[in-house]
Amino acid sequence: MGKGFYISKPLGFVLFGLGAGAVLTIFALSVVYVQEKRKNEVNARDGTRIVTTAAPHRTSAPSNEAWDKYRLPDALLPEYYNVTLWPRLVPDEEGMYIFTGKSGVVFTCLKETNLILIHSNELNFTLTSEMHHAKLTGLGGTSAPAILETWFQTQTQFMVIQLKRKLQVGKSYWLYTEFHGELSDNLGGFYRSEYTENDVKKVVATTQMQPTAARNVFPCFDEPSMKAVFHLTLLHPPGTVALSNDNQEVLQTRFEPTEKMSTYLLAFVVSEFTNIRSPPEIRIWGRREAIESCQGDYALNVTFPILKYLENYYNTTYPLSKSDQIALPDFAAGAMENWGLVTYRELSLFYDPKVSSNEDKEWVVTVITHELAHMWFGNLVTMRWWNDLWLNEGFASYVSYLAADYVEPTWNIKDLMVQQQVQKAFDVDSLVSSHPLSSREDEVITPDQIDQLFDTITYSKGAAILRMLSEFLTESIFANGLHNYLHEYAYSNTVYTDLWKKLQEVTSINEIMNRWILQMGFPVVTIDTRTGSITQQHFLIHPEAVVDNYEWFVPITWLKSGSNMGQHWLLTKTASYEPMKTDTDWLLANLNVTGYYRVNYDPQNWERLLTQLNSDHKVIPVLNRGQIIDDAFNLARADIINITLALRTTKYLYEEKEYIPWESAVRNLEYFFLMFDRTEVYGPLQGIYGKGKLKYCMVCVTSVYRYNQINAVSMACKTGVKGCSELTRMWYRQWMKNPDTNPYGKCFSKYLEYSIDPNLIRKQDITYAIVYIADNVIGQPLVWDFVRANWEHITKDFDDGSFFSGGLINGITKKFSTEFELQQLCCLIFIFWKPFTFDMQAIERAIEQTKANIKWISENKAQVMNWLIEQSD
Ligand SMILES: *[C@@H]1O[C@H](CO)[C@@H](O)[C@H](O)[C@H]1NC(C)=O
Ligand SMILES: *[C@@H]1O[C@H](CO)[C@@H](O)[C@H](O)[C@H]1NC(C)=O
Ligand SMILES: *[C@@H]1O[C@H](CO)[C@@H](O)[C@H](O)[C@H]1NC(C)=O
Ligand SMILES: *[C@@H]1O[C@H](CO)[C@@H](O)[C@H](O)[C@H]1NC(C)=O
Ligand SMILES: *[C@@H]1O[C@H](CO)[C@@H](O)[C@H](O)[C@H]1NC(C)=O
Ligand SMILES: *[C@@H]1O[C@H](CO)[C@@H](O)[C@H](O)[C@H]1NC(C)=O
Ligand SMILES: [Zn+2]
Repeated sequence: MGKGFYISKPLGFVLFGLGAGAVLTIFALSVVYVQEKRKNEVNARDGTRIVTTAAPHRTSAPSNEAWDKYRLPDALLPEYYNVTLWPRLVPDEEGMYIFTGKSGVVFTCLKETNLILIHSNELNFTLTSEMHHAKLTGLGGTSAPAILETWFQTQTQFMVIQLKRKLQVGKSYWLYTEFHGELSDNLGGFYRSEYTENDVKKVVATTQMQPTAARNVFPCFDEPSMKAVFHLTLLHPPGTVALSNDNQEVLQTRFEPTEKMSTYLLAFVVSEFTNIRSPPEIRIWGRREAIESCQGDYALNVTFPILKYLENYYNTTYPLSKSDQIALPDFAAGAMENWGLVTYRELSLFYDPKVSSNEDKEWVVTVITHELAHMWFGNLVTMRWWNDLWLNEGFASYVSYLAADYVEPTWNIKDLMVQQQVQKAFDVDSLVSSHPLSSREDEVITPDQIDQLFDTITYSKGAAILRMLSEFLTESIFANGLHNYLHEYAYSNTVYTDLWKKLQEVTSINEIMNRWILQMGFPVVTIDTRTGSITQQHFLIHPEAVVDNYEWFVPITWLKSGSNMGQHWLLTKTASYEPMKTDTDWLLANLNVTGYYRVNYDPQNWERLLTQLNSDHKVIPVLNRGQIIDDAFNLARADIINITLALRTTKYLYEEKEYIPWESAVRNLEYFFLMFDRTEVYGPLQGIYGKGKLKYCMVCVTSVYRYNQINAVSMACKTGVKGCSELTRMWYRQWMKNPDTNPYGKCFSKYLEYSIDPNLIRKQDITYAIVYIADNVIGQPLVWDFVRANWEHITKDFDDGSFFSGGLINGITKKFSTEFELQQLCCLIFIFWKPFTFDMQAIERAIEQTKANIKWISENKAQVMNWLIEQSD
């Protein structure tokens, strides 16, 4: 034992290093957990001309005035809204689709003020009183101050109402407006989605409020903590149905008041959709054709069990009286957790046994479980501000696997979390351009900054960190804490530390979790079995990167030649621990990859692990077999271990029948294919993984796991296996001939032009269409030229840019590996630079990645070539 700190072996708890005051609290915490672990295993009429006077709009240089700040002052608190909206499903004389509305809000004055700031964006107001765009009335006998002036502060998206005198503290007021807005096709706010049924064009009016578009639909205090009750009335033509967050009366226009909720969770849809239902009040909505061909059946089948599972998991009954889920032909995200009326893109809700793949089915069930998980976590209890979005999204992403496992117990879906969330997060989080999970409240202010938060770190790292927390606390303590949290904060708002408070031993949880939340990145833990030393270091994929000297509190679980050695904590940069010293046993750390870190060993231990894999790989848990491959390839990319060692971890695969290790290999080899498909290494690479020993295994594993088949076919084709290319060419020819499935079967440049015509390819699908073409060796340069030539066009009318252009930039530049390509990418910054927009981060990441690719090829090409040639001998 070196400078380590060793405590009570019988408990199976060892602390590495002396983490100042943290050691004791963490120890106390550990004892609790180990014990626990043992114990458990309108009224407007159509045709009325709307008269609007030019509403004064102001833009001014940032000043210290309240209306120039993006955040609402804390002087007013909304209580309830009465909103009536009327979407027109046919264009007006000028060819514009519009909606009209009347809205009133009752608010209480908490602090003396003569100013009302309420969010409103892109709405045109009708004069409500003789001079002003709003009418203010005092309630309960209070007289309201007269309005001095109203105007719209465009930049900060406020309607500003300056009063002649102050509002009185403790009194309530009613603010009323009438307005109209465009029912545009930009996938945000109150928007329209179109489809054709029996050759007739149908228009759906639907909403997407999150994060900041409720203000585009009616004036509101549009921040998550401004929870209120909404009385909603929708006017709609005969033959359509109106849906919203709560139940409707017979007229199908006026809804019961909602629960107290945030504006971003509101939703309403007017459509000719039909539904299927099951008691109690669970309905799946969509286009008639889709519903009648049973595409909603799977969603309906799983919803009730999922809600039951979640009620039990949270130990809290479902907070609403009904659950509607609706699939929309045009939808920007995958789905949106509006309370009681969840909206989906069709692919995320519909499952058609005739054409959908297993992967599609898994997508459907995990999206449904993710959204339904939000009905409690996110909707019932909501983050106070967007900087805690990671807790909301990370949590729903984590719990979605637990609930999906409950409804599809034979899929081993929980295991997929490692690849789909943990390793996905590792990829982004090992770049210098990564960022911490948690941001300060004052760092996330503008709508653009809020949009940027919806990224891989927020979702996947959030899920990975919560999975780690739940594992080291034990699932039951975690779930119990959740229950208390939901109970205490129902219908209100929280910050993340409120959750920690409910998880017992708050000091320790804070100390442990802050390291993972406030610092970006994650560690690589290196175990030297020759000395027993264990060290941690910030893992960066680019070896020359320089960042702060981070240190984490790392939960270490490990196997020693197959025996589980329990859980330990590494609290300092370096420590040593006698039981880790060995010259015969192999050590394997991070069991089931529950910890958010990578692991490296001394060369001898690596050799012992390879020997074990090659002799009897089943002794090593399946998730760890995938981990060995993934860690090795990434450590090699970071120049920490030799690339040939990484390649050697794939040699045992000819005996491997499980999906996860194969997926790890295929994913990592993908990088080799991307980097080498335009070089002389490509031939030998195809040779080894397509025609050599490994090929046969591709065939032998096809029946074992649902996804192995996909991997086998794609790998076989990628490596030029003759039978595969013949088979897929035949499929392609058949598909091209069928005008139903393939109306736009063309080659690449024509198809690219289609991608910017919304009549041919839906806006929601542009990114996919372009990125798929870019995946092809011939398509890639075409796409690059096309995107630069059409940049303005492609990006201009997307409000929800974060879902869009980040994925696009990454998708089309992932093969970049030459100086010439790097220069072109750097130029993009100067041409399209806009301060504070999402595009910048994506371009910066692409530049960082391209530089690394160039370096990687120059350092590794010869070695990879040599190893491949050796294997084929
Ligand atoms: C808002 O609507 C509710 C329900 O229709 C009604 O009871 C209430 O009086 C309305 N409030 C105002 C201020 O008009
Ligand atoms: C709102 O007013 C602006 C400026 O007058 C106009 O360009 C826009 O089309 C109007 N919007 C609607 C929905 O009428
Ligand atoms: C839905 O459940 C019914 C009844 O159990 C079953 O017959 C049907 O195959 C299921 N549909 C899907 C798509 O899972
Ligand atoms: C569920 O909550 C109730 C009270 O809110 C409590 O008595 C019960 O023990 C909880 N059940 C579990 C499994 O935690
Ligand atoms: C690791 O995961 C497997 C499922 O892949 C599970 O059966 C096993 O119990 C887990 N092991 C530990 C130590 O949690
Ligand atoms: C990596 O290993 C190969 C073969 O074992 C060896 O030829 C090469 O020099 C090693 N590279 C480095 C950087 O150590
Ligand atoms: Zn979510």
